[in-house]
Amino acid sequence: MTLRIVLLGAPGAGKGTQAQRLAAAHGLVHISTGDMFRAHLKQGTELGQRVQNYLNSGRLVPDDLTCAIVTDRLVQPDCAQGYILDGFPRSAPQAEALDAFFADNGQKLDVAVDIAVADEDIVDRLSARRSCPACGAIYNLKYGPSKRGGLCDRENCSGELILRDDDREETIRKRLQVYHQTTAPVIGYYGNQGILKTVDATGLTPDDVFARIEEILCGLKGA
Ligand code: AP5
Ligand code: MG
Repeated sequence: MTLRIVLLGAPGAGKGTQAQRLAAAHGLVHISTGDMFRAHLKQGTELGQRVQNYLNSGRLVPDDLTCAIVTDRLVQPDCAQGYILDGFPRSAPQAEALDAFFADNGQKLDVAVDIAVADEDIVDRLSARRSCPACGAIYNLKYGPSKRGGLCDRENCSGELILRDDDREETIRKRLQVYHQTTAPVIGYYGNQGILKTVDATGLTPDDVFARIEEILCGLKGA
């Protein structure tokens, strides 16, 4: 079954963590707009220069730039087997643009999963997040540290773990504010389409959240 999944949720809700697991479990392509922008920043491309200030201040990159990078990615051949969108759409115009892409390409979204986590947990989680710039692995000093301290413990990777530039308290608070103002309405958008599923992830481990999402996906296959 080809699955097309959108993962919604505040900064630090666990979208990336779950998207990596789901991609591995179901052979899906993981598309994270944040990761794509950070790759451009690292490579110093023109797009990277254009988005730098938005990422570092916790504001959203303009919709036209973001939608273009996503639709370019979705027409790549590997996406034919299904994909998980992590961090997109993040505004009503982005959700509408995605629906227009689906209409043009004879596709549809199977489910939008909202990973709901209380704001109080977010700052605590994100200031303890460590990321591997080499392979993209996600760790947490409190809730899931690397077995090798400051180095990535994935096989064949010894990347030096970093704190993301936008994981500083002031920027985290700005990202949360942007989330509540601009991104939260996307939840209602998918609710109205009847394809929204919510996982209340406060206090749940990543394994528990994964199990809940798997139950949701099993329900789709049985439908
Ligand atoms: P992006 O990279 O998407 O950041 P974000 O949405 O703020 O989300 P995060 O990646 O911070 O969190 P996550 O939900 O992936 O959580 P994770 O799994 O890492 O976007 C960055 C920026 O790019 C934006 O601010 C914007 O500027 C731009 N951008 C991106 N997309 C855009 C768009 N569509 N439009 C416009 N601009 C866009 O987990 C977080 C931490 O918690 C980790 O340490 C993890 O180990 C831990 N953790 C995970 N699950 C659990 C659990 N259950 N219990 C305890 N700890 C957990
Ligand atoms: Mg992420």
